[in-house]
Amino acid sequence: MRVLITGGAGFIGSHIQDKYIGLGHHVTVLDNFSTGKREYLNPLSTLIEGDITDESTVRGVFQKGKFDLINHHAAQINIRYSYDDPINDCRVNVIGTLNLLKAMIDFKVPKIIFASTGGAIYGSPQTLPADESTPPVPGSPYAISKLTCENYIRNLSELYGFRYTIFRYANVYGPRQIAKGEAGVVAIYTERLLHGKSPVIFGTGDHTRDYVFVEDVARANALALENGDGNIFNIGCGVETNVRDVYDAVSKAFGDTALDAKIGDPVPEVERIALDASHAKKVLGWTPTIDFESGVLKTVKSFGVDVSD
Ligand SMILES: NC(=O)c1ccc[n+]([C@@H]2O[C@H](COP(=O)([O-])OP(=O)(O)OC[C@H]3O[C@@H](n4cnc5c(N)ncnc54)[C@H](O)[C@@H]3O)[C@@H](O)[C@H]2O)c1
Repeated sequence: MRVLITGGAGFIGSHIQDKYIGLGHHVTVLDNFSTGKREYLNPLSTLIEGDITDESTVRGVFQKGKFDLINHHAAQINIRYSYDDPINDCRVNVIGTLNLLKAMIDFKVPKIIFASTGGAIYGSPQTLPADESTPPVPGSPYAISKLTCENYIRNLSELYGFRYTIFRYANVYGPRQIAKGEAGVVAIYTERLLHGKSPVIFGTGDHTRDYVFVEDVARANALALENGDGNIFNIGCGVETNVRDVYDAVSKAFGDTALDAKIGDPVPEVERIALDASHAKKVLGWTPTIDFESGVLKTVKSFGVDVSD
């Protein structure tokens, strides 16, 4: 298959790139390196450096290459930045996605896989883990932009007949994660400890997230190459982990020699979330394979820390 991965130089996109290339697919990466890194590019990928917010750039990409599938991971991913600059968040996440959708319709690309957020789209639902029928309560400009893209994809797909799979990820973590963003707490704590700085727990540390390892996420994206059309899938482990537990797991990977965490002022964020991924199991045959403790060890090791596993 000839696949265009937007954001393929980023954390999740680069793992998907490696997975697809390992399966024998031809990958083109479209990235503006705003957060992505050249060193994450696979030598077998074709790079197009460009910005998805620029309509003529996007059309040029589709004019040059013929694609069987668009895997769309480029985005402004930082929830706090989305409060500071909701216009830019909307430009990158919504207008960027519309540029791609318009081009894929015009150039007759049959399918898109879209990276949405299960960590942010449901708010803090009463019943956990949340499945895909839980009403979205997007509590940030970022989550609003992702839900808006989902709606555009479903609506335009009905009209123009392209296929789609939408993934609502939990908090993805693992090697290559940039130490900021929606879900970067494992990477943030690791980097702070590496530099001898105390990690900061904002608020009580009681708020919970569902952590899913990036290789499991890449595998879901491989399964969706051929399956899962017309579906929205939660991708998570269904387990709530609070911030203090994250700190403890990272600290343990450092051999418990780590510094004590500092307590920071609370910030507006989802209180508790965990995702029910049984729909992905049923339709795609996807289940997470890496538990949090092993995933944290792999992540901390990838920062060059000598962990005993
Ligand atoms: N990390 C998570 O836990 C998580 C959770 C839910 C959803 N997601 C979604 O998954 C996707 C990937 O997230 P990530 O954590 O790998 O982030 P990331 O920042 O590492 O990757 C984003 C990539 O997109 C590129 N990019 C950003 N703006 C661009 C633009 N205007 N034009 C072209 N390229 C651009 C960046 O350079 C980077 O390579 C995003 O859509 C994000 O919203 C991530």
